[in-house]
Amino acid sequence: MTVHSIGSAQPPAPTGNRRVALVAGGAGGIGQEVAAELLRNGLAVAIGDIDAQRAAAVATELTQIGGEVIWVDLNITEQSSVSRALGEVEQRLGPIDVLINSAGWNHAQSLLKSDEAYWRQMIDTNLVGGIRVTHAVLGGMIDRGYGRIVHIAGEAGRAGTANQSLMSAANGGTIAFVKAMAREVMDKGVTVNCLSPGPTATPMLDQLIQYAEDAAEMVASLRGAVPMGRLGHPSDIAPVVAFLASEGAGFVTGQTISVSGGMTMV
Ligand SMILES: NC(=O)c1ccc[n+]([C@@H]2O[C@H](COP(=O)([O-])OP(=O)(O)OC[C@H]3O[C@@H](n4cnc5c(N)ncnc54)[C@H](O)[C@@H]3O)[C@@H](O)[C@H]2O)c1
Repeated sequence: MTVHSIGSAQPPAPTGNRRVALVAGGAGGIGQEVAAELLRNGLAVAIGDIDAQRAAAVATELTQIGGEVIWVDLNITEQSSVSRALGEVEQRLGPIDVLINSAGWNHAQSLLKSDEAYWRQMIDTNLVGGIRVTHAVLGGMIDRGYGRIVHIAGEAGRAGTANQSLMSAANGGTIAFVKAMAREVMDKGVTVNCLSPGPTATPMLDQLIQYAEDAAEMVASLRGAVPMGRLGHPSDIAPVVAFLASEGAGFVTGQTISVSGGMTMV
């Protein structure tokens, strides 16, 4: 036996002639750019988002790229919504080969000023939501012997961010979940990875700045936290997510890749 004959590098061929991706949070700043990148790479893409109106508008805008793009109403904090949305994607596009979880919600609050309702909403949206969608797609991926799952976490989960303790906890939980899941499905053809953005110019960041006690100071401190001296843009993030979601990345799993202008180097 030669080393070349140990294991196989060939993923099973896609059903039909393309892979199918669900981008949860696909109507958001990062999600939309990721959806566009996947479409350009030839995947059929479903945009799933709680903001159905925006999801529909994004899907319409992305039809300019060509290929197949649809939108579905999806709330990752509700099991019935997840089941219904996934059923709709599978019926219209086929089984889901790629899950990108880019759905999230963030209002910065110091722990002392926050209450349990806020803690629950932060954790349910930013940690449990991603677990819920993963749980829903994973069995099918294992049965078909192929899957790519990419969660968007954040540098708060690696370094900790003041006044964002709940987001830091959710992101840190996602990073640990990804490592454990990667180990659990290591021999099933399914990879599970994580993308960790730094401050990135999206509607979420606009909202954080809008509600900050001192908006100018917040922008300056966000920029100052990035060694490259600028905010990230969704177009900095999308190509790296698309790589992790590609067939060629089949030997990469359990990783967290920071795309943050050098903020963390773990
Ligand atoms: N922008 C940043 O600075 C930054 C930094 C680190 C991490 N992140 C993470 O990146 C991901 C994408 O964020 P973004 O900056 O594109 O934000 P965004 O607000 O532009 O997009 C988030 C999307 O998620 C959707 N969403 C919220 N709750 C949902 C739910 N329950 N079910 C389904 N969809 C839901 C929103 O409608 C929105 O379209 C988030 O997980 C966020 O925490 C962002």
